[in-house]
Amino acid sequence: MRIAVAITLLAIGATLPMASAQESNVQSLIEQRHQEMKANGGAMKQLGGVFRGDTPYDRDAVLKAAETLSKHSGTESAALFPDNSLKHSGSEARIEIAGNRDRFNEIFSDLNSSSKELIDLARGNGSDTEMRAAFSKVAKTCSACHTDFRVKN
Ligand code: HEC
Repeated sequence: MRIAVAITLLAIGATLPMASAQESNVQSLIEQRHQEMKANGGAMKQLGGVFRGDTPYDRDAVLKAAETLSKHSGTESAALFPDNSLKHSGSEARIEIAGNRDRFNEIFSDLNSSSKELIDLARGNGSDTEMRAAFSKVAKTCSACHTDFRVKN
């Protein structure tokens, strides 16, 4: 009997630190994806200003914003949303991500390719129309993903 209790205590002692290490890892992933998304939000605001004509047309600004978006997208960003981090306190990521990984990854990959397209256009001599088209592709990925995979406020 005593041995059983001792073994149980040992088991609890061994698993508790592991569980809390896992929890702090999840917290840091959530923190990281919030930072990436905030940066994406800033980049889109800037691009919106340029393409609406509110701010001076500045290719360098377009390039910088598109680079931010291309860094915070694709498979690396998708990896910040493991199953155990979904429907978590302090996060608006929906549990549906777990059952729809292909679609979730695809939208992140579309954000990556459309922002890279914008980078190429801004670096080269992309026309205003071409850049607007790429910008609108980028913007569609934000709303597509948020509609299905982010908790609505
Ligand atoms: C493939 C999915 C996906 C794409 C693409 C995506 N987002 Fe998000 N976004 C999310 C999810 C999920 C959350 C909620 C994350 C959380 O709370 O843990 C989120 C949260 C946010 C937030 C809130 C961050 C915070 O601090 O709470 C902003 C701002 C944001 N996204 C902006 C954007 C912009 C702008 C784009 C497009 C350039 C974009 N997102 C593209 C899935 C996506």
